[in-house]
Amino acid sequence: MGAYGKIGKKVVVSEFGETPLEALDRFLSFETQLPPEPETLRPTDVVVVVKSAAVGWVDLLMSSGQYQHMPKPPYTPGLESAGVVAWVGPEANHAVGDKVIVDGFLVGPRSKGAYQQYGGFASYVVAPNDGVIALPSRLSFDQAASFLGNYETAYHCVIARGQLRAGETILIHGASGSTGLAAVHLAKMLGAKVIATGRSLAKLEALKAHGVDHVVRAVDDTGAVARFRDEVKALTNGKGVDVVYDSVGGDISVESMHCAAFDARFVIVGWASTPFVAKGKGQRGAPNVNMIPTNLIMMKSLRVLGSPAVISAHQNPQLRATRLRDLFNWVDEGKLVPVSPEVFAFDDIKEALRAKWESRFLGGCVVHPID
Ligand SMILES: NC(=O)c1ccc[n+]([C@@H]2O[C@H](COP(=O)([O-])OP(=O)(O)OC[C@H]3O[C@@H](n4cnc5c(N)ncnc54)[C@H](OP(=O)(O)O)[C@@H]3O)[C@@H](O)[C@H]2O)c1
Repeated sequence: MGAYGKIGKKVVVSEFGETPLEALDRFLSFETQLPPEPETLRPTDVVVVVKSAAVGWVDLLMSSGQYQHMPKPPYTPGLESAGVVAWVGPEANHAVGDKVIVDGFLVGPRSKGAYQQYGGFASYVVAPNDGVIALPSRLSFDQAASFLGNYETAYHCVIARGQLRAGETILIHGASGSTGLAAVHLAKMLGAKVIATGRSLAKLEALKAHGVDHVVRAVDDTGAVARFRDEVKALTNGKGVDVVYDSVGGDISVESMHCAAFDARFVIVGWASTPFVAKGKGQRGAPNVNMIPTNLIMMKSLRVLGSPAVISAHQNPQLRATRLRDLFNWVDEGKLVPVSPEVFAFDDIKEALRAKWESRFLGGCVVHPID
């Protein structure tokens, strides 16, 4: 009997925690998962045996009700995964044995509707026919499981919104993170100069292998945001950078505005340093929201660009069609080579989530629900 016939297991979050760490300590557990019964599925469904599932920052935020899109607990986390098709409905146009990426737009906790229950932290995922994408031959399951969220975000922020061009300079914060590293790859592929920031000297050093032109430590020895504007100005002949990729937020945003050239694009990607901006759990109000100084925006003629990759694609589906086409082409041509993430056993899911929360690894980590 193949893996499809085996009894599996899935992760369940029974209720939101006050913080992601509380959620994983108190409300996250494993449950048995039986292979989905074909007679309960639609003719256009496919069943995927999950080989690798990305451990995402959004999975953590979601478990504390801080993310803008919330499934109702109990739910199975795991926004993105990759695996092997184990069953196909008679009207699906995939085949048993196909290697696929499960599309988090249509399946799992970031999606809406019937397939929201099928998070990737599980042995089996049920997806609609359009909810799986053929795995590019150059990608491993681990690279593929982390591909869409990271590179679609980076594409939207660097290319669609940031309009980065060859010869320009981009300042990338959180460059060792999952989306930040994808932004580094895209910016270098475009022929831009990359100044990467981070807190950890070891991870900054490791970034050099990814082609960054300069690294800048964004914090001082106490962990407070450092004054790095002089260093960045010196690296750009006093001009400042053309694009800021701000996935960290908080004090870094303000310091970064001093690093920007006149008329620069300032792309707001996220706020990894201040995750608890809202009251959470659907309550209205944002007591800890990040603030940016309008005087600097005005005097430096900055273009501040909110850049939500998922929401924008729902507003304008053509945005997504274009970026998926480009990204998969670049992978097929060998121009984009996603990092191979750290791998955790499925039983170590809590440790994997903790590692992600602490930004332990360059580029992130995955779990293997079925080895
Ligand atoms: N715009 C979008 O559509 C979109 C899509 C996905 C994610 N996001 C957002 O983008 C942000 C990054 O996501 P991600 O998946 O790349 O997360 P990630 O893999 O955890 O990376 C974030 C990086 O930021 C740095 N960082 C974390 N806390 C920090 C702090 N207190 N001060 C300074 N630097 C800190 C870390 O690098 P060092 O340890 O090297 O400093 C870390 O590697 C999140 O806020 C996420 O919600 C936005």
